Amino acid sequence: MSPITDPRDRLIVALDIADVAAARALVERIGDAATFYKIGYRLGYNGGLGFARELVERGLKVFLDLKLHDIGNTVEEGVRSVAGLGARFLTVHAYPQTMRAAVRGRQGDLGILAVTVLTSYDEADAAEAGYALPVSELVAKRSEQARDIGIDGIVCSAQEARAVRGVIGPDRLIVTPGIRPAGSDLTDQKRVMTPAEARIAGIDHVVVGRPITGAADPRAAARAIVTEMEQA
Ligand code: C5P
Repeated sequence: MSPITDPRDRLIVALDIADVAAARALVERIGDAATFYKIGYRLGYNGGLGFARELVERGLKVFLDLKLHDIGNTVEEGVRSVAGLGARFLTVHAYPQTMRAAVRGRQGDLGILAVTVLTSYDEADAAEAGYALPVSELVAKRSEQARDIGIDGIVCSAQEARAVRGVIGPDRLIVTPGIRPAGSDLTDQKRVMTPAEARIAGIDHVVVGRPITGAADPRAAARAIVTEMEQA
C-alpha cells in the first residue's frame, strides 16, 4: 500500500446513512475536510455501490465495508467487481480460504482488510459459534494468517491494535472504529480511544461515524479530528 501523505486520509468517515441523497448532501457539507468515506451494508444495499463510483470519480477514496465471506471463487470474483468500482479498501472475514481468494481477486489500488473477530463477540459468543480458543488468541491467530496470506491490513478495536501490530509488523495497515474525540458523546461505543491516542497507538486510519455525521457542523468536526491526529 502506498504511504499516507495527506493527513486527511487518516480519517475515514462512516456514511451509515440510509439513502444516497442524504449521503451526497453530507459529503457536500463536509467538503474538503475529509477525503475518505466508508460505505457499509446500510447504504451499500440501497444504491451505495453506484454512489461509491461517484465518490471515486470526484477524487475521493472509498472503503467498502462489505465483509465478504463465501466460497473462494465467489469471493475472488466479488473482489474483482469491487476493484472495478475504484474502491481503496474492502473488508473480508479473516478465514484463510476467504482471505486467499480475496488476494487473488485484488487489482489496482484496492487493499483488502481482514476482520479478525467481530468486536461484538465475547468469549461466550465465540464458544457458541464452536471456537475453542479465547477471543484474544483467535484474533492473534487470524492476524498471523492474514499477514502470511498477504492481506493489506486488519480492522480491529483500538484495544487490540498494539497486539495486532506486534503480529502483522510495521508495513500493514491497522484500521479502527470506536474513536471518539475527547468530551464527545460515546453513543453505544464502550471502549473508545481519542483520535490522538489512536495515532500514538500506531493506528493508520480511524473510522468515525456519528461524531461527524451527527454534528451540527460536520465539516468542523472532521477537521478537528484530522488536526488532533496531526498534532499527536
Ligand atoms: O458512529 P460510529 O463512529 O460509532 O461508527 C463506527 C463505524 O464503525 C460504524 O460503521 C460501525 O458499524 C463500525 N464498527 C464499529 N465497531 C466495530 C466494528 C465496526 O463501530 N467493532
